[in-house]
Amino acid sequence: MEAFPIPCNVFYDVTMSVDSLLPVAAQEPSAAFSSLTPVHDAVKAHGWWRSAVIYQIYPRSFRDLNGDGVGDLAGITAELPQLAELGVDAVWLSPFYRSPQRDAGYDVSDYCDVDPLFGTLADFDALIAEANRLNLRVIADLVPNHSSDQHIAFQAALTAGANSPERDMFIFRDGQGPDGNEPPNNWQSHFGGSAWTRISEPNGLPGQWFLHLFDSSQPDFNWDNPAVHAEFERVLRFWLDRGISGFRVDVAHALVKAAGLPNWGGRADGNSSDGFPGQDAPMFGQPALHDIYRRWRSILEEYGPDRILCAEANVDPLPRLAQWVRPDEMHQAFNFPYLHAGLDVNRLRHIITDSLLSLDAVGAPSTWVLSNHDVVRHVTRFGYDGPGPRDGDGIGPDDAQPNEDLGRRRAAAATMFMLGLPGGAYLYQGEELGLPDSTNIPGTMRQDPTFARTGGARIGRDGCRVPLPWRSAEPHCGFGDGLDPWLPQPESWPALARDKQEVDPASHLNLYREMLAQRAAHRLGQGSLAWVEDYCTGSSLAYLNGTTLVIMNVGTDAMPLPAGQTILRSSAAGTGAEQPGADQPGTDQLGADQLGSGETIWLTAS
Ligand code: BGC
Repeated sequence: MEAFPIPCNVFYDVTMSVDSLLPVAAQEPSAAFSSLTPVHDAVKAHGWWRSAVIYQIYPRSFRDLNGDGVGDLAGITAELPQLAELGVDAVWLSPFYRSPQRDAGYDVSDYCDVDPLFGTLADFDALIAEANRLNLRVIADLVPNHSSDQHIAFQAALTAGANSPERDMFIFRDGQGPDGNEPPNNWQSHFGGSAWTRISEPNGLPGQWFLHLFDSSQPDFNWDNPAVHAEFERVLRFWLDRGISGFRVDVAHALVKAAGLPNWGGRADGNSSDGFPGQDAPMFGQPALHDIYRRWRSILEEYGPDRILCAEANVDPLPRLAQWVRPDEMHQAFNFPYLHAGLDVNRLRHIITDSLLSLDAVGAPSTWVLSNHDVVRHVTRFGYDGPGPRDGDGIGPDDAQPNEDLGRRRAAAATMFMLGLPGGAYLYQGEELGLPDSTNIPGTMRQDPTFARTGGARIGRDGCRVPLPWRSAEPHCGFGDGLDPWLPQPESWPALARDKQEVDPASHLNLYREMLAQRAAHRLGQGSLAWVEDYCTGSSLAYLNGTTLVIMNVGTDAMPLPAGQTILRSSAAGTGAEQPGADQPGTDQLGADQLGSGETIWLTAS
């Protein structure tokens, strides 16, 4: 029984026939392009998530209604109409649970309560009610690999002593060496340093070590223990009962570790490196994970067919990632190989083909994404011509700085290319405003544990987490009218504020609105894909989705467009004087037969 009715999106009305789910284009193939070989056929299966655009909200940086300098749930509720109007189908909320905030909420001390920083359970219920009113679904972030060291279960484990059931909720081991003063194995934390921390036993003596793949304040749960399974099933039901439409599952590839916790000869944090694919790492991708997700899927299905699981699973290669989304497991898995491909058209083509073939084989959609709260925003990544920043490491004031206008132009092109693809897509808050990373946050204000754990060698992820600019003339650009925001906003924020962009037809925001409207109108998310070889050069990529022809030019020169097609939208068309990136001509200046450098276009193929 659903506690809150979930509104039905008309595109997925189950009363519609299967044929009516086919894109308009698939019913009217165009003569000129009908001989192309499809890599992926139009979707016939039901499921709102298969083509949904889901907008990630990072609550501490979205909107601060109570003036404490940190965003809150009431602030999200107040601005939800803006997201409905933007044209997204759902929102994903990064963690808002009780937490000491050592990793911005990914260190949870109570999974079934709202942190007072963000509000109350009543605020959460109000948010769901408003989302329902606006036909927006809400997905929560579930953090099952680790808790906070302040979680009641970890505190109990510390006082209970070795070999107790309390310690068995986490991964405690004796150390190596005569005094046990060496960590149990060589694993490294993702945030730098050892993945093990030694505790003092209740008698005050140095004791066992506990595993934390992330910060030392984030102890890993022991998923070999059925009590951990039971606890998370309770958590799932708690939020499903409150009307949540599903969960993005944090580090979904890491919960189960290989028996014996063997040393690992690859990159010590388990990520892929040359010669040592992450797929073999003992802390990732263990077969027993799949039983967990099958069980969770069955719990979600007790609530009907519309509740979903999305894996944050850093798994490669793509056919292996497809195992996460088999029919009885998760519904979606972020396509991180796509995010990491940058603007390398050969790599993009290979990844898109591989994704669609691998995922079609298990009946799952691909889930495209370009930015999130862990990586440098794509406006900034694409603002480098040479090697840019290593993903996730961030950019500081002493690093080479990006060309922001170039990056914004290319980001618009990359997003338009992505939103034309069949499947679902995730957007990260602020990308619709063309926000860049903030690259000059002083070290003293940095909050990402990566910065402290590496002594500043890795800058960390704060740059992509800066509070949003809503209204240019208000204090803190309308983020909140009280205390200073928890991270400083760059000087460029007023010019990029939402209210300024709303009234500028050539703004990044209006480009996003139009892309989402056209994507829905042409049912691109449910559509097909065939490569159009004539426009796949070393510096451009083109595909046909139904009757929509999408071409992206990442080369330095303009390229000819096919004759006689109707332009639906260009990523640079309408570029006004104030539009960042306007220094390069777009299709409207070049003429309808040319596609500018760093530009994507949607045409109606006829
Ligand atoms: C989240 C990060 C977080 C980490 C530990 C992830 O992959 O996206 O923001 O720091 O998990 O929970």
